Amino acid sequence: MNILLTGGAGYIGSHVAVSLLQAGHTPIIFDNFCNSSPSVADQLNELAGKAIKIVRGDIRDAARLRDLLGSDELEAVVHLAGLKAVSESIADPLSYYTNNVAGTLALLGAMEATGVRKIVFSSSATVYGEPQYLPIDEKHPKQAVNPYGQTKLICEQMMSDLAAADTRWQVSFLRYFNPIGAHDSGLIGEDPTGIPNNLMPLVLRTALGERDCLQVFGNDYPTPDGTAVRDYIHVVDLADGHVAALDALGSIVGAQAYNLGTGHGTSVLELLRTFEHATGAKVNHAVAARRPGDVATLYASADEARAKLNWTAKRRIEEMCVDSWRYATRNRRRG
Ligand SMILES: NC(=O)c1ccc[n+]([C@@H]2O[C@H](COP(=O)([O-])OP(=O)(O)OC[C@H]3O[C@@H](n4cnc5c(N)ncnc54)[C@H](O)[C@@H]3O)[C@@H](O)[C@H]2O)c1
Repeated sequence: MNILLTGGAGYIGSHVAVSLLQAGHTPIIFDNFCNSSPSVADQLNELAGKAIKIVRGDIRDAARLRDLLGSDELEAVVHLAGLKAVSESIADPLSYYTNNVAGTLALLGAMEATGVRKIVFSSSATVYGEPQYLPIDEKHPKQAVNPYGQTKLICEQMMSDLAAADTRWQVSFLRYFNPIGAHDSGLIGEDPTGIPNNLMPLVLRTALGERDCLQVFGNDYPTPDGTAVRDYIHVVDLADGHVAALDALGSIVGAQAYNLGTGHGTSVLELLRTFEHATGAKVNHAVAARRPGDVATLYASADEARAKLNWTAKRRIEEMCVDSWRYATRNRRRG
């Protein structure tokens, strides 16, 4: 299939592009590069052994999307473009509603106008809010506790409503848990601009000596070692989940949600120990106060994706650490 891949120049999107190519699909990347670089094309072309089409554009530009969707014989959309930093969304909610919600609305309108009604959407475990039970399955109540999570919920709702109104729409929401790792070539990986928000980029920068010390937020949670537990998933497994979701779209009626996680929790200290052991690099760290809004433990039930998409995460934490480190040491950040 020819696939419009929004946000395809970003961390997860570039890995999705590779997985799509390996599965015989043709991705056309659409990205405004607000959190990525056009130079990812060089790495993707090298990995693919051919030139990948990358279009610079903004998902809020409905006319542009209509032209593209109408002219390129596109059959489906994998939609990852969006802003993703929780703290930034609390400080600047309008940017998040404009970019993530109005952008998705413009994209859906362009899809409807051109008759492209298959979409795989990158949602987030953030939609579940504070866990009421573990592991979290797709039926867990949804109560996003920050504007970023709200934008994902609103987008899911818009697509559910569309699929309920018109059975020609086939929709999958992929609720990601905590993606880390990188392609084993070391060519693509996570390279956030500015100060990273999530753990692995901070681990990498500390191990590289770019930061003095990693703050471990809280060691008094009700977990085995007191630090927060999360479900880390290798980004290549996550990317492969998109291909599985795309392949299953044809048999979907309405909108379906799938958790993409491993089903296993790993604490911050366990991750640090594994990282140091697997890479030989040292990560200076110190315990700091809990961060407001962080929950103690979060991990997925990935049973639905296994049953309906025939997908499971294969890669272990050691591999996630080694692959992240390979990318970081080969590609110092852009600054
Ligand atoms: N990384 C995570 O931990 C995580 C977890 C859950 C969900 N997600 C979701 O997955 C998606 C991809 O995340 P990522 O980690 O690869 O982030 P990323 O920032 O690396 O990639 C997002 C891409 O979207 C592009 N983009 C943003 N707004 C755009 C717009 N208006 N028009 C066109 N392009 C735009 C950016 O330039 C970037 O290349 C996001 O929707 C994010 O919310 C990420």
